[in-house]
Amino acid sequence: MKYFLLPLIIIFALASSANAGYREAFEKEFLYKSWGGEELEVNACIECHSSNIMKPEFQDIPNQWKMSWHYQNSVMCHDCHGGDYKDATMSMSHQRGFVGTPKPADTPQFCGKCHIGILRNYLESGHGKSLQSTGKGPNCVTCHGSHNIQKASIEIINEGRCTKCHSYERAQIMKQALFATENKMKEIESQLANLKAKGMYVGAENRELFSTQAEFHALFHTIDADLVKQRTDEFMRRLNAIDAKIKESLDEIHFRKNFSTFLMLLFIGLGVVVGLLSKTYKD
Ligand code: HEC
Ligand code: HEC
Ligand code: HEC
Ligand code: HEC
Ligand code: HEC
Repeated sequence: MKYFLLPLIIIFALASSANAGYREAFEKEFLYKSWGGEELEVNACIECHSSNIMKPEFQDIPNQWKMSWHYQNSVMCHDCHGGDYKDATMSMSHQRGFVGTPKPADTPQFCGKCHIGILRNYLESGHGKSLQSTGKGPNCVTCHGSHNIQKASIEIINEGRCTKCHSYERAQIMKQALFATENKMKEIESQLANLKAKGMYVGAENRELFSTQAEFHALFHTIDADLVKQRTDEFMRRLNAIDAKIKESLDEIHFRKNFSTFLMLLFIGLGVVVGLLSKTYKD
């Protein structure tokens, strides 16, 4: 029995040490390589900022960011604030591109390095001009927040937010001007989702809707209700064209349904005929 157990123990010991070596090699080789995905890489900003050494009023920032639309689109801390997320000791050094927290007047440029079209409209608007001249206009963060930023909609225009500096009347005129086009876009979005669920390919229509939406949402930042009204016809024309394509796809689905019912009835009919024939043949 003894002679039997000893080699078994040796085999086990060898196997588990080989296993440990293999795991170490695997981690070195693969887990920290970029193809393993951004999540597997060490991110010094997130680690240190979530840790207990962070002052309490900053500690929740990584959690807020994880609930944002930016997080879903892989916009990381350093994409906004600069710095080096790979090197904890130097990550907040200006030499590594760290720009820190923007002042309110610098926020439009801070966000606008990615949202270029919106920045352009904003800078030409009453809001942008008064931020630059008197510091009194709202900046991007006033309306969108900073870390928990969500997909935008006209719901952002509400009494709580828009009456801090002037009457709600002005804001409401703007909301009314946006309303019809915004509703049409929502309607088309749900119809496209519906078609996709039915197995239709709607890639081209989705892309057209996305670019129309982006252009229209950027238009808000001019805060020029007359301009919005003036361009509403053009946006409606583009949306109606997508609508027409949706109708075509729906017709096609109906045709397919009717045709398969027709085929089914045809086969049942044939079955009955064959059945009758074989009966008369037997008789
Ligand atoms: C979409 C851009 C964006 C991203 C991504 C982002 N931040 Fe910020 N952050 C800002 C802005 C803008 C401010 C200024 C806040 C303000 O004006 O209210 C700020 C402020 C801060 C502050 C200072 C807060 C204060 O009260 O003074 C800290 C700390 C911070 N961010 C850390 C982080 C960390 C850590 C991450 C990643 C988990 C991150 N940020 C991701 C835009 C961003
Ligand atoms: C080793 C810890 C550590 C790392 C790594 C780290 N931070 Fe910080 N960060 C801090 C501390 C501590 C503070 C608070 C300083 C204070 O007391 O005001 C801070 C403050 C900040 C602020 C607000 C103050 C300012 O200067 O604007 C921002 C923004 C910020 N960090 C972003 C980042 C980003 C982006 C990264 C990664 C590129 C990062 N941090 C990496 C510890 C860290
Ligand atoms: C590093 C580039 C980058 C920076 C800087 C940046 N964003 Fe974004 N933002 C993106 C990307 C990418 C998306 C996701 C794609 C999209 O929805 O357009 C996005 C989406 C958004 C959306 C939702 C868009 C929608 O579809 O409804 C808002 C609102 C937004 N960002 C506001 C801001 C604000 C405010 C700031 C500054 C505090 C900022 N962004 C800074 C890249 C950036
Ligand atoms: C931080 C202050 C502030 C906030 C918050 C604010 N505004 Fe304004 N708004 C201004 C200033 C300043 C002006 C331009 C100066 C003026 O005409 O009084 C302005 C002007 C306007 C105008 C008139 C533009 C024109 O050309 O006649 C509209 C429309 C408007 N704002 C809509 C909104 C909406 C919608 C919101 C909420 C989403 C909002 N504002 C929130 C400060 C603000
Ligand atoms: C006065 C409030 C206000 C300010 C200031 C503001 N926004 Fe917006 N933003 C909105 C509203 C409202 C919408 C949605 C418009 C709509 O639904 O037609 C929006 C939409 C967006 C979108 C979505 C675009 C898309 O593709 O769907 C982005 C991105 C964005 N804003 C970024 C910014 C940036 C960057 C700044 C600063 C330069 C900024 N916003 C300043 C209120 C504001």
